[in-house]
Amino acid sequence: MTEHPHKSGVIKYPLSMRILHWLRAALILGLLASGWYMTRLPQDDVATSGFLYPNHKQFGVLVWLLALVHLTLRWRYRTVIPHPPSNLAPWEKWLSHLIHRLIIALTLITPLLGYSMSSSFTQSDGVPFFVISQIPELLPKNDAAFAVFQALRRYSAYTLLACIILHLAGALKHRLEDKNGSTDVLPRML
Ligand code: HEM
Ligand code: HEM
Repeated sequence: MTEHPHKSGVIKYPLSMRILHWLRAALILGLLASGWYMTRLPQDDVATSGFLYPNHKQFGVLVWLLALVHLTLRWRYRTVIPHPPSNLAPWEKWLSHLIHRLIIALTLITPLLGYSMSSSFTQSDGVPFFVISQIPELLPKNDAAFAVFQALRRYSAYTLLACIILHLAGALKHRLEDKNGSTDVLPRML
């Protein structure tokens, strides 16, 4: 396959990757916000937590499945994905590459740790997934293991947040410094 320049001259990501990028972005920002908010609710706010926890879990599992779809598309379109602009500074190329890889890894790891945490917790309400009321809980119930998964998951979710902030800062930097120039990568994803 060869690269197909858009009529504006910009080589864009394939449409399916662009749609998936913004869908994943919206879901992940929602999960980070809901996770942060629900763990700070007062103990007696059963109505809010009874809504947020199951939805956080099922949308979290959905993000894991979408991360697998993303990897498949990335592999399928490996020859048409636009290259980094050639006039980026070496450190910018290196950093954006590293952040993409970290985001890809963390969108796979964070939901797995969330699932492991829920499924090892002795008082867990289980993990729903839309039409499936309970996904099988594969790990043995063990509150010590739960505490380890809970801590790892927290690091992993907030490291993902830090990567997304850097990623957004990078996209904005090139937008503001070089609008529609060769290092402005935003139009490739729009
Ligand atoms: C919040 C606003 C966001 C903006 C403005 C944004 C913008 C962009 C842009 C412009 C690119 C293309 C970069 C290039 O070609 O060099 C890109 C790529 C990418 N973005 Fe974002 N992004 C955002 C959020 C996210 C989020 C939340 C995720 C998490 C899933 C994400 C994951 C990725 C990945 C993995 C790539 C690499 C291309 C790929 O393999 O899909 N982005 N983003
Ligand atoms: C990319 C996907 C996910 C993201 C970004 C995410 C993000 C977060 C964040 C930021 C928190 C708050 C952590 C804290 O401040 O202590 C949280 C809590 C939580 N998440 Fe997720 N999550 C994801 C997937 C999942 C999945 C798949 C599950 C379960 C199947 C899950 C279950 C939970 C639970 C039970 C809590 C509360 C933990 C506690 O009480 O300490 N999450 N999540």
